[in-house]
Amino acid sequence: MRKTSKAAKKRLLVLHGPNLNLLGSREPKVYGRETLPAINRRLIAAGRAAGAEVLCFQSNLEGELINRIQQAQREGVGFIVLNPAAYTHTSVALRDALAGVAIPFVEVHLSNVHAREPFRHRSYFSDLAVGTVCGLGSRGYDFALQFGLDYARKAGR
Ligand code: DQA
Repeated sequence: MRKTSKAAKKRLLVLHGPNLNLLGSREPKVYGRETLPAINRRLIAAGRAAGAEVLCFQSNLEGELINRIQQAQREGVGFIVLNPAAYTHTSVALRDALAGVAIPFVEVHLSNVHAREPFRHRSYFSDLAVGTVCGLGSRGYDFALQFGLDYARKAGR
């Protein structure tokens, strides 16, 4: 009998840091008017259309984000789209979690952090990331996800 081997479904994680649950009402001139559930729905649908599973998670707590990253490794997540929000500029612990699981990721920022206050120019993630997208609003997530889907497929992750 012929053995049928079905490739495991690709699984990607979209991780949002603190205050991104307020998207839509939070400083709309900087972050736009789209809500987080609307962004997540679009990313999940794009993943489904590409035959992949997209998991979305937001937390205001550093430890919860770290736990979610560690869980991603156990779940076989092949790629992460990450907006660490303010933790971008502060969190060695979150950086260590990503280095520890060695899951490739893209760093996303809705705003152009380089055109903002100097403390936002420094990232604890950019040198570990496959790449970064910033200043393109919520579309940055879409571009990062498309890249991640491609990357995971090519890498067989
Ligand atoms: C952000 C930029 C960060 O500096 C800020 O703390 C955020 C959001 C962005 O998406 O533009 O919370 O990551």
